[in-house]
Amino acid sequence: MSNQLLKGKKGIIFGALDEKSIAWKTALECHAQGAQLVLTNAPVALRMGEINKLAELVNAPVIGADVVNMDDLKNLFEQSMKHFGGGIDFILHSIGMSLNVRKGKHYTEMDYGFNQKTLDISAMSLHRVLRTAWDLDALNESGSVVALTYIAAQRVFPDYNEMADAKALLESVTRSFGYHYGVKKKVRINTISQSPTRTTAGSGVKGFDGFVTYAEKMSPLGNASGEDCANYCVTMFSDMTKMVTMQNLFHDGGFSFTGVTNAVIEQMENNIHELD
Ligand SMILES: NC(=O)c1ccc[n+]([C@@H]2O[C@H](COP(=O)([O-])OP(=O)(O)OC[C@H]3O[C@@H](n4cnc5c(N)ncnc54)[C@H](O)[C@@H]3O)[C@@H](O)[C@H]2O)c1
Repeated sequence: MSNQLLKGKKGIIFGALDEKSIAWKTALECHAQGAQLVLTNAPVALRMGEINKLAELVNAPVIGADVVNMDDLKNLFEQSMKHFGGGIDFILHSIGMSLNVRKGKHYTEMDYGFNQKTLDISAMSLHRVLRTAWDLDALNESGSVVALTYIAAQRVFPDYNEMADAKALLESVTRSFGYHYGVKKKVRINTISQSPTRTTAGSGVKGFDGFVTYAEKMSPLGNASGEDCANYCVTMFSDMTKMVTMQNLFHDGGFSFTGVTNAVIEQMENNIHELD
């Protein structure tokens, strides 16, 4: 259902790789809610060609940018402002990449060169995006920026590996830049901490299926889907949330504040009885 919550708003969506991507679903929902969009992803992701399907569906240009390349980001913002004929109202940062996970390196035997790249792509990239927008004065007053994160920034999920540290840094950049951009131009910057979701990045985590089922059982509302996340992003980009900034917003069906559920206790008891 469209309430045209984003009518007249203009946004850049980073990170739509394929139709499973949270960014893909968010782009569809923003379009349905009346927004005009620019889509972007790393040149290597664009070569897959999938994003062109989305571009057609949401009537948006695709502008390639490696998020750790400042020239690419400057070009992206300049081209986007030219396309929109003015400033930008919202940005979705939906980017994650762990080189140590990709190369099968355990947290305790981390390669620090890979780790630098992981932190740059997955966390400092938010600073790079905001800095580019700041230097070009690209964001409109009361603009909204959302980055996606995971609760491994606060609690240990052993196989989330170095991405836990990357997400902690991402959430810190959100607060620090959120302060400065808030004072300068009332721009709000928040992270949404999403339930495990079956996407390309998500499935890279070891034991992901067990993880999804456990989270489902541990959440009073069940896991939030990618579509649910897209809807939440829309509210954060809308004028209804103008005074929310520098927050880490849990969007996880209650998982983050649940100690245990009856469903998990029952499962444990069944396991014990099976051993009897
Ligand atoms: N899937 C989950 O379980 C889950 C849960 C919580 C948070 N998140 C976060 O959601 C975000 C989106 O991930 P997703 O699950 O939709 O997976 P996804 O694989 O569809 O998206 C990740 C995106 O990051 C992009 N990317 C990687 N390196 C880049 C670079 N150098 N420059 C530009 N873009 C680059 C990829 O091309 C891809 O589009 C990530 O930040 C992820 O950590 C995912």
